Amino acid sequence: MANLLTMDDLSARDIEWILDRAESIQKDKKKFRESKPILVTNLFFEPSTRTRFSFETAEKRLGFQVLNFTSETSSTTKGETLYDTVRTLEEIGTDIAVIRHKEDHYFDQLIHKNIKLNIVNAGDGSGHHPTQSLLDLLTIRQEFILFQGLTVAIIGDLRHSRVARSDAEVLTSLGCKVVFSGPKEWHNPELQGDYMPIDDAISKADVVMMLRIQHERHQHTLDLTKEEYHQAYGLTLKRADKMKKGSIIMHPAPVNRGVEIADELVESTNSRIFKQMHNGVAIRMAVLEWALETERGEMNRGELI
Ligand code: CP
Repeated sequence: MANLLTMDDLSARDIEWILDRAESIQKDKKKFRESKPILVTNLFFEPSTRTRFSFETAEKRLGFQVLNFTSETSSTTKGETLYDTVRTLEEIGTDIAVIRHKEDHYFDQLIHKNIKLNIVNAGDGSGHHPTQSLLDLLTIRQEFILFQGLTVAIIGDLRHSRVARSDAEVLTSLGCKVVFSGPKEWHNPELQGDYMPIDDAISKADVVMMLRIQHERHQHTLDLTKEEYHQAYGLTLKRADKMKKGSIIMHPAPVNRGVEIADELVESTNSRIFKQMHNGVAIRMAVLEWALETERGEMNRGELI
């Protein structure tokens, strides 16, 4: 069994393997096909464009069979639990379940002796988003080669962002200095590091990573208009002028243009936002291969019965 639930499930060697594999997939378009078709089911209980469709593209490019579960038309509307849903899909023949869910750590209920399929977390509430982290790492590595010594500024809705958590943890472990900025109300005590005004963060950073405002997770809104937020906490054109030479802009998207980032900067020459999306397919192909390879290794060692 190989679950990718948080970045802690990957050793530095695993990460390097996935990034290398993704790059070799990008270079070599040759299709990989198993003799027995692998069945993947995508279960998205929260909206998604990038993650959902790049997983589906990755699965199809790998020659897998794909089922797309729709919660609105499923028996979860009759009260069936996530555990019973996944257990059912396993019994039907699913080898890998790709799951996005609004509950933090939804996967805790699936780490159970009766569930043997591989689970890949496509985002849990404000918890973790490991495949976004991996595509972010690939984007940064393709730009700077090494992580060691880079300064990454993560800016915006730090409290509600699963990307901030996953990225901050792994980037720190790889030797980056991670600094944070955003409204005080959204500072996150679980994110350890230097908090600073946005102008300071932007002028120090090799990577300026802006975060979407996660309205859907807010209990109280900030008393600011979109324009006031942009001026106080966003990457404005004026602030972008203060970025270091050679530094890049990232954002996990979807982007609120003109709020956390100026419209003109989304596709500026130093923006890698669409490159991140491009990298998502190869990373997800590599993650699916990693899960199956890890499972095969366990089977060969007799660890799975
Ligand atoms: N970055 C990201 O997870 O985008 P989606 O919500 O569109 O999948």
